[in-house]
Amino acid sequence: MRFRSTCILAATVFHTYFDGILAINSTALQTCTQLQTTLGSDIVQFPNGPEYLNSSANAYSFFNAEILATCIVLPRQASHVQIAMAAIFKNKVHYAVRAGGHSGMTGWNAVQDGILFFFSHMKSISYDDKKDTITLQPGIRWGEAVQQLQPFGVTPMGGRLPDVGTGLLLGGGYSYLSRQHGFACDAFIELDVVLVNGELVTATATNEHADLFRALKGGANRFGIVTRYEVQAIHASSLNADWFGGLVLYPNSSVEAILAATHKFTTTVTDPNATFDMVFVNTVNGSDVVGTHGLTLLYHGSALPPGIFDDFLAIPAINNQLGPITYLTALNLSGPGNDRGSGAKMGAGAVSGGVEEYTNAYRAWNDFTTDPAVKPTLAWSILAFTPISKFQISVGRARGSNSFDPPLVNYAAIDFQANAIPGLREWSPQVEAARQTVFKRMPPSPGLPLYMNESDQKQKVFATYGRFEELKRTYAKYDPTRFNVRFTDGPPGL
Ligand SMILES: Cc1cc2nc3c(=O)[nH]c(=O)nc-3n(C[C@H](O)[C@H](O)[C@H](O)COP(=O)(O)OP(=O)(O)OC[C@H]3O[C@@H](n4cnc5c(N)ncnc54)[C@H](O)[C@@H]3O)c2cc1C
Ligand SMILES: *[C@@H]1O[C@H](CO)[C@@H](O)[C@H](O)[C@H]1NC(C)=O
Ligand SMILES: *[C@@H]1O[C@H](CO)[C@@H](O)[C@H](O)[C@H]1NC(C)=O
Ligand SMILES: *[C@@H]1O[C@H](CO)[C@@H](O)[C@H](O)[C@H]1NC(C)=O
Ligand SMILES: *[C@@H]1O[C@H](CO)[C@@H](O)[C@H](O)[C@H]1NC(C)=O
Ligand SMILES: *[C@@H]1O[C@H](CO)[C@@H](O)[C@H](O)[C@H]1NC(C)=O
Ligand SMILES: *[C@@H]1O[C@H](CO)[C@@H](O)[C@H](O)[C@H]1NC(C)=O
Ligand SMILES: *[C@@H]1O[C@H](CO)[C@@H](O)[C@H](O)[C@H]1NC(C)=O
Repeated sequence: MRFRSTCILAATVFHTYFDGILAINSTALQTCTQLQTTLGSDIVQFPNGPEYLNSSANAYSFFNAEILATCIVLPRQASHVQIAMAAIFKNKVHYAVRAGGHSGMTGWNAVQDGILFFFSHMKSISYDDKKDTITLQPGIRWGEAVQQLQPFGVTPMGGRLPDVGTGLLLGGGYSYLSRQHGFACDAFIELDVVLVNGELVTATATNEHADLFRALKGGANRFGIVTRYEVQAIHASSLNADWFGGLVLYPNSSVEAILAATHKFTTTVTDPNATFDMVFVNTVNGSDVVGTHGLTLLYHGSALPPGIFDDFLAIPAINNQLGPITYLTALNLSGPGNDRGSGAKMGAGAVSGGVEEYTNAYRAWNDFTTDPAVKPTLAWSILAFTPISKFQISVGRARGSNSFDPPLVNYAAIDFQANAIPGLREWSPQVEAARQTVFKRMPPSPGLPLYMNESDQKQKVFATYGRFEELKRTYAKYDPTRFNVRFTDGPPGL
């Protein structure tokens, strides 16, 4: 299966690229040629370059893997990003940035007739035990980060699947550590940022770029290209099995009980060491849709305390493998997440009301997956609930706040992801319309921010942010000619 889709992919790549050459954007081509002369052919690659094809294909969503840049810039250090960005700015070329490549937005980590930055050669990570901080480059993936720092007993706050990348930090970031330590971006200490004109600045909570620093906590790809993250080290990952938990699989007949338990945990549990990720999964099998739902349940401690998970554990399950595990193993419980070849799109919800809001979202999603217009090109779809606690929000506020700045309530963030049958290059307007119907049927509860990293391009995520007005002002200050919003795809509203 993987081999077959690689062949299709290679054929697609060359077909699309050479078709494109007839209409090639000469500004992009000239800028690429000029940059290759300046930076060399290892760093700036055309489709005949040794890493072009592999880099292009390395997007989680096939819808992005098939979008072909005029050239790919593979920086080794920040100055390469500066030089390329300065030329892009001067020549007015379209561009995109890719770290781990997991974006569910078509065109947000890929660009046609333009220049793609891909950070596969900037993957270093280190721990400073005097400052108790971790410095990482944008190309590292969370599994690599956790594995490399495990001997030191520390980890950055990152994603919950090993293959996901650092773009997550700029969108806010949901980590298994978040209920105790805030959103992943709340751990920022210092960021190096290449602004649209190529200038490199360092932003901290207290220096002259404190406004930029806060904007980057949720501001996504709109405020510049981050070339170095320094974040607070979290002492919650070691070579010891100091976590307790695992994966519980439920049959579809347990849906109602799962929704009730998800709601109860989200609204009542205060212990910050307890967390979960409840993922409803509907898989299309011919004309059938099969629901098998997975709960990743985790406690930072040597055993599950009584009470907290009892409702979940009382629900009839297919299997249930709980025990002492390391944080690294916890990260891999839902699989590595490194599959490629299937187009994926996401969308976000957020609920703070009663269980009926959870049920309402579930129904909207289940109807989508069983819609006769959707099923033929849908491989599988998930609806995932992440519990966000008041405590987590207050930790973020104490650290200077972020740009989405949620109200102080317990709520569940909802991620709706749909994956296409392998090799499908685009969804039909009918499937797109059915996806949009799901968002309409599950609007966020009043006042809650949507999560950038699990949103759809049509959702106006910035407008749901607590600090939307401030974000717009900061954007106008750092990108006065609005170059970013004109020349790269990303969240609307600034
Ligand atoms: C299987 C899977 C599991 C996931 N699990 C989680 C999870 O547990 N928690 C969670 O919070 N989210 C999760 N997500 C969502 C995830 O946060 C987003 O997909 C996120 O965008 C991934 O970052 P990336 O670096 O892999 O993606 P990329 O697509 O490379 O980057 C995402 C966006 O960020 C921009 N960007 C990346 N790096 C930079 C940079 N250095 N400077 C400026 N802009 C940049 C890109 O242009 C792009 O728009 C998951 C997604 C998938 C597909
Ligand atoms: C790219 O190459 C690396 C090894 O060099 C390999 O592990 C990876 O699977 C390749 N990715 C794609 C998408 O072909
Ligand atoms: C090339 O791109 C520039 C700016 O990115 C744009 O103004 C121009 O119209 C494009 N040309 C073609 C032929 O697409
Ligand atoms: C996630 O965050 C990044 C920046 O970190 C942003 O550019 C991207 O659009 C967000 N959304 C998705 C679905 O990846
Ligand atoms: C799963 O169960 C729910 C609740 O009983 C039901 O509404 C839904 O249609 C079922 N879904 C599938 C795919 O069988
Ligand atoms: C929660 O985790 C912290 C470590 O982050 C630990 O010190 C504490 O004892 C844990 N609390 C409980 C109730 O287990
Ligand atoms: C898919 O359907 C076929 C028969 O229609 C069945 O044999 C098979 O077990 C099903 N697969 C799954 C994963 O349910
Ligand atoms: C992660 O899980 C996959 C199966 O889902 C397994 O093949 C792989 O070996 C695991 N990796 C680690 C580091 O545990």
